[in-house]
Amino acid sequence: MEFLPEEIDRYTSAHTSDEPDYLKDLQRETWQKVLIPRMLSGPFQGRLLSMISHMLKPKYVLEIGTYTGYSALCLAEGLQENGKLHSIDINEELQPLQLKYIERAGMQQAIELHVGQALEVIPTLNQDWDLVFIDADKENYLAYYNLVMKTLKPGAHILIDNVLWSGKVTEKVAKNDLETQTLVELNQLIQDDKRVQNILLPVRDGLTLVRVL
Ligand SMILES: C[S@@+](CC[C@H](N)C(=O)[O-])C[C@H]1O[C@@H](n2cnc3c(N)ncnc32)[C@H](O)[C@@H]1O
Repeated sequence: MEFLPEEIDRYTSAHTSDEPDYLKDLQRETWQKVLIPRMLSGPFQGRLLSMISHMLKPKYVLEIGTYTGYSALCLAEGLQENGKLHSIDINEELQPLQLKYIERAGMQQAIELHVGQALEVIPTLNQDWDLVFIDADKENYLAYYNLVMKTLKPGAHILIDNVLWSGKVTEKVAKNDLETQTLVELNQLIQDDKRVQNILLPVRDGLTLVRVL
């Protein structure tokens, strides 16, 4: 769902820095070859992720939901020297494409991929995260937030994608719609969480930025 009128959307993109060529090619190849290509963050959100990462200069980033690696490559742009982004995805079939573009971007040292259930992999990654990007199965968003909040130190940040869920979070939620229910619950939990400062950015499908106090 597009929240902005088309001409505003076009103008916004026309006045935003362009992405590197390898991201254009990754996006094209994802649309040609992979199921549900709209899951990829895309140029505008990707440039925002890159900008946030450059501003925060994280040493260690955790990404939950790699897909074809687009957002991982954007977030890795702002890593400190010798910093590392760990990205988890349950679908191992995506690895050849992820690896192809990580190599093309020259980010082999900066990005480490993990295959598996994120809730099982995260506790094995014993790391002090500076930035966490949650962008996987919506039913587990509350679990991801609670799990990472246990270890994050003051000054760490969390980004959470799809928090508007095509606007469904503002409507009456159907009893069997676990994804929307979870997102509504998480958005309220964050709003009431005294441990954080938060802002819900109406970018694309909604992106929440959380700063741990
Ligand atoms: C929206 S896509 C991620 C998009 C990517 N961050 C980007 O912007 O280019 C969600 C990904 O989460 C993965 N996923 C879903 N459930 C998962 C789970 N339980 N553990 C790990 N990954 C999961 C899916 O395989 C899919 O590739």
